[in-house]
Amino acid sequence: MSRLVAVSNRVCIPGYSIAPGGLAVGVLSALRQLGGMWFGWSGNHRDDAGVEPETIDKEGIRFATIDLPSARFEPFYNGFCNATLWPLHHYFPGAFRYDASEFEAYMAVNRAFANALAPLIQDGDTVWVHDYHLIPLGSLLRQLGVRARIGHFLHIPYPNIAVLRILPVYAELVRDLCQYDLVGFQTEEDLEGFSSAVKGVFRDEASIGSDRIELAGRRIGIGAFPIGVDVDVIARQAGAAAREDEQVRRLVAGLLGRKLLLGVDRLDYSKGLVERFASYRTLLESSPELLGKVSYIQIAPLSRINVAAYAEIRDALERAAGHTNGQYADTDWTPVRYLNKDFPHATLSGFLRMANVGVVTPVRDGMNLVAKEFVAAQDPEDPGALVLSSMAGSARELTDALLVNPYDRRAVALALRQALAMPLAERRMRHEAMMKVLRVNSISRWYKSFMSRLAEE
Ligand code: F6P
Repeated sequence: MSRLVAVSNRVCIPGYSIAPGGLAVGVLSALRQLGGMWFGWSGNHRDDAGVEPETIDKEGIRFATIDLPSARFEPFYNGFCNATLWPLHHYFPGAFRYDASEFEAYMAVNRAFANALAPLIQDGDTVWVHDYHLIPLGSLLRQLGVRARIGHFLHIPYPNIAVLRILPVYAELVRDLCQYDLVGFQTEEDLEGFSSAVKGVFRDEASIGSDRIELAGRRIGIGAFPIGVDVDVIARQAGAAAREDEQVRRLVAGLLGRKLLLGVDRLDYSKGLVERFASYRTLLESSPELLGKVSYIQIAPLSRINVAAYAEIRDALERAAGHTNGQYADTDWTPVRYLNKDFPHATLSGFLRMANVGVVTPVRDGMNLVAKEFVAAQDPEDPGALVLSSMAGSARELTDALLVNPYDRRAVALALRQALAMPLAERRMRHEAMMKVLRVNSISRWYKSFMSRLAEE
């Protein structure tokens, strides 16, 4: 069988480095099963950064990482990746900026990846590139003579051409994606966005089908491959954390018997936290009987702190939490507990298990694995209820959650009230239905279906 070479900006080396988010969990899970190599950034900067990668073998996986020069990293990561592509792909033109020198840094980092990776690729390898940081990598590897099959999976949304066009270099990036053998997205909607982009760039030169694009005598596979979670691992972890984890015990003790509404998100404007705080305030305003009876805990570890839009959202949330607490708190009750703190994954699954209501209301999200993890972490005998934004990719699958428009704060407040009061029989029914979906669209299905499609292309 062909060796898998996974490539992403961050890598997650068990026992050495932790990379946040679904990408790391998904890629690690694929490599644990299939073996192979994971190539990416070491997390370190070196100004004389050479191209020689450092390697380490763990759990049957080879990890190969390179340092990046700090002068390039800042405009690459804080600039083009997270102040250009991220807002563009999440439909936030207000947070979008374009700076040609940042695009140059993006291309330079992708070239550094390609130069360091190409010599490590062996005959018969399959290369799987992940996410928006590395869109041109496939094309750059081809220019260096790499003939392996190369696929790309985008973990974030893909916007419609009408939005994509605000990026001056959008056509170059669409052309780069068309150099892969297979391009995968989280949902059908993202796939439609990409098809609209290919049509916009190539017009009649491209013939676009539901799973293939024919272009200049080449075939490019396209498809939706929704990423999943390892249901059994999370269920086990959550059960153990609920029994044994000191942090979970402290969280429960602090509730003093109140019902818990819980949100767990990276601090990012796409997560809809400002709107969520406002909806919770509307809930308290409209339901005086809940005052002193519920606690909303929002865990929001800091992220991308050097990008201006992230600093702004942080200020807005501090003000919103202070405002609600100032108005409603009592000597023995804090309505909102807002923590910019990270916790180990196992502890977080214990927190999710203890929540009566999981509040997952991004204003735009490629998938959102917290929603899936919330479901997997519940006690099936007495599960909590999930309030989920219809703007998250996971809403396409978790149709038995209470689906809301995160901008409609009265509707979100109503859904929160309905979730808090939901009878046990209904909670069980919804939970069982969502668990069925999670078991079918599992994490192994994600990587197996992507890899087998790539082998066919
Ligand atoms: O796809 C989104 C993503 O790149 C995931 O890896 C993860 O959820 C998150 O963003 C991590 O962001 P960063 O690497 O900027 O901390």
